[in-house]
Amino acid sequence: MIVAPSMLSADFGHLYKDIDMVNRSKAGLIHLDIMDGVFVPNISYGFPVVKAIADQAKIPMDAHLMIINPDQYVGKFADLGVKWLSVHYEACPHLNRSLQNIKDHGMKAGVALNPHNSISNLEYCLEYSDYVLIMSVNPGFGGQKFIDNSLRKIDDLKNMICKKNLETLIEVDGGVNKENAPLLKKAGVDILVAGSAVFKAENPFAAIESLSL
Ligand code: DX5
Ligand code: ZN
Repeated sequence: MIVAPSMLSADFGHLYKDIDMVNRSKAGLIHLDIMDGVFVPNISYGFPVVKAIADQAKIPMDAHLMIINPDQYVGKFADLGVKWLSVHYEACPHLNRSLQNIKDHGMKAGVALNPHNSISNLEYCLEYSDYVLIMSVNPGFGGQKFIDNSLRKIDDLKNMICKKNLETLIEVDGGVNKENAPLLKKAGVDILVAGSAVFKAENPFAAIESLSL
């Protein structure tokens, strides 16, 4: 299981301390939540902060774009060293083109899906996606409660991937914690994003380890 701590819940006053902890931990990716205040009702951080994280990160960065018109920024994220980049199904009218653009910039291409949308929407883009990011909360904020029917959605997605004989990875994001992690693993999740469950834990380093088991 790959654990991707979400820096949205990190201590921005002491960012380097938290990145250093993540570097030393069992984390496999560093998850960066980019919000524009339009696609989601919140603004997170932009390129200067991504650069500061990139300068210190020893683990590949996985950026989750919760923005409209993501295509125009793909090159910039690649230049900053991001290795995994996901765009929202809901923000891309030409999704297959957006995914190809990400791949052409040498990154893994992911498609993120909001909780109310069915995986049947992914039927014809799955083969172009290196990973699918299933949102298990409505995107925009850390610390929300996991939406239970996401488990069924992940189960169905795993079946769809197997039936198509693909190797698409499944990432889940929102309300992940040590209680639901074993169920998510059983349903076929490959990457767990965790913000609060890591950074609000008494021992974030140990929290990453226990999610990775
Ligand atoms: C929410 C973000 C998540 C968020 C997860 O829109 O995409 O990555 O940081 O935070 P937790 O794990 O606290 O739900
Ligand atoms: Zn995210």
